[in-house]
Amino acid sequence: MRLVFVGPPGAGKGTQAKVVCTRWGIPQISTGDMLRAAKTAGKLPADLVAKMAAGALVPDEVVIGLIDQRTREADCAPGFLLDGFPRTVPQARALGILLDARNLKLDAALALEVPNELLMERAVLRRTDKRTGQIYHLKYNPPPPGADLEHRADDHEEVVRTRLATYGAMTAELLPYYEKLGILRRVNGVGTVEEVTARILEALGRKVRE
Ligand code: AP5
Repeated sequence: MRLVFVGPPGAGKGTQAKVVCTRWGIPQISTGDMLRAAKTAGKLPADLVAKMAAGALVPDEVVIGLIDQRTREADCAPGFLLDGFPRTVPQARALGILLDARNLKLDAALALEVPNELLMERAVLRRTDKRTGQIYHLKYNPPPPGADLEHRADDHEEVVRTRLATYGAMTAELLPYYEKLGILRRVNGVGTVEEVTARILEALGRKVRE
């Protein structure tokens, strides 16, 4: 199964990706996580650190290179879930080209839809455990005592506003692109994590209890 998760900041892509990937034994590949790991390791150029902190996209060639390399690794043989990539039509075309060259295809592009008024709260109150990568929410999924929490640099209200605007501009082209290919699945991302997981599995033609 080769999947793409598309959705605005705070829609729950990372949360749902972890559930789906654990269930199907495929890796979750998040360009946002890869870029943040490069930043923590001091390997992300300063101009890209600044772009991320401002809520802007990094250049297409950077993320296409990351995905090209990562999807060649052995654990991707049974499939993979791309979380937050592609975000632009050039990225989607590049993904299509690199999969074609390997005789592979995407099974589905899943768009997680959540209204803007919920997204701000989801993003601003998100906290991630630095040690485990587990995603928490101060209101909906509070972290346990002792968690080593991180508040993302781009999860402050002003930056989230910019990220939402960037997303709106980008999907205006990206979703029709996948719609035309006949692989777009739209899923309502409002509800509990479990309710949304059940809708995702149904949209992908999988039983809720496999
Ligand atoms: P990235 O890390 O991909 O961020 P994003 O797309 O903005 O998405 P988020 O991680 O904010 O949200 P999510 O949908 O994963 O939500 P989550 O599950 O955490 O990208 C960051 C930056 O990197 C970009 O701005 C850009 O600069 C750069 N970048 C990355 N990819 C790029 C690309 N392809 N091209 C160019 N630049 C790129 O959930 C959010 C919160 O809500 C959590 O607290 C969670 O606990 C809670 N929650 C989740 N589900 C529910 C629910 N059902 N009910 C209640 N709360 C919930």
